[in-house]
Amino acid sequence: MLRVVTALFLVTALSGCAAAPASEIPAPIQSAKHEVILATQPKSVPLFDKTTFSLDAADSPWVVADKLRPLNPKKYKPAKLVTLKLPHRYDPRLRSNAAGAYAAMYAAAKADGVSFVILSAYRSYKTQVSVYNGWVERLGKAKADLQSARPGFSEHQIGLSVDIAAGNGKCTIAACFGTTPEGRWLTEHAWEYGWVLRYPKGKTHITGYKYEPWHWRYVGRGLAAEIHKTPNITLEEFFGLPAAPDYAK
Ligand code: DAL
Ligand code: ZN
Repeated sequence: MLRVVTALFLVTALSGCAAAPASEIPAPIQSAKHEVILATQPKSVPLFDKTTFSLDAADSPWVVADKLRPLNPKKYKPAKLVTLKLPHRYDPRLRSNAAGAYAAMYAAAKADGVSFVILSAYRSYKTQVSVYNGWVERLGKAKADLQSARPGFSEHQIGLSVDIAAGNGKCTIAACFGTTPEGRWLTEHAWEYGWVLRYPKGKTHITGYKYEPWHWRYVGRGLAAEIHKTPNITLEEFFGLPAAPDYAK
């Protein structure tokens, strides 16, 4: 509701209050000079600049880590992490921009009657060792590799990814999370706060991981808005990076 009111306010503020009387509207200029001026106007807005930030540096907001793009260094730790004082199960730390964006998104969802719990946010290299080994013990290496990154390859280690669960625990870390009110809210709104779905449905051949409707990656609002224009697109596809279905041999 707040968003609608704000949008209405902005539309009103930007467009003025009332239409100008017909007599105040100047007649179209019909001159050769005017046509030249029109012809030199840019026809579209400038293209989004995909080179604004590094895709390689671990500190970059756009860094892309996947099975072919390990973190550099592999034991990278963000210089600063912020602790979120919001519902969580495990370590609720994120890098500061991501933490602010999560807090704003949490508040907006709550206003819409949707509540989130942070399952997992920043994970150190050491934590990723135990998370990954735990999955290997439970599922075997081949299946574990489809849902858990090896240490040094996880975007959780960058401090820009968060696994989100529903407040009522329904479909936690399960594909059906995508159809819960919480999952649907995220699909509709997370991009407005700078988040992208890192492992979309049907993209295992590119990301190397199964569909993870709970795993959101912060990239900033500009890039998230751009990515949102193409449903289900991966960071690899958007930036023209090689598909990374498996680790280098
Ligand atoms: N579940 C994702 C792939 C990770 O472990 O980083
Ligand atoms: Zn995750």
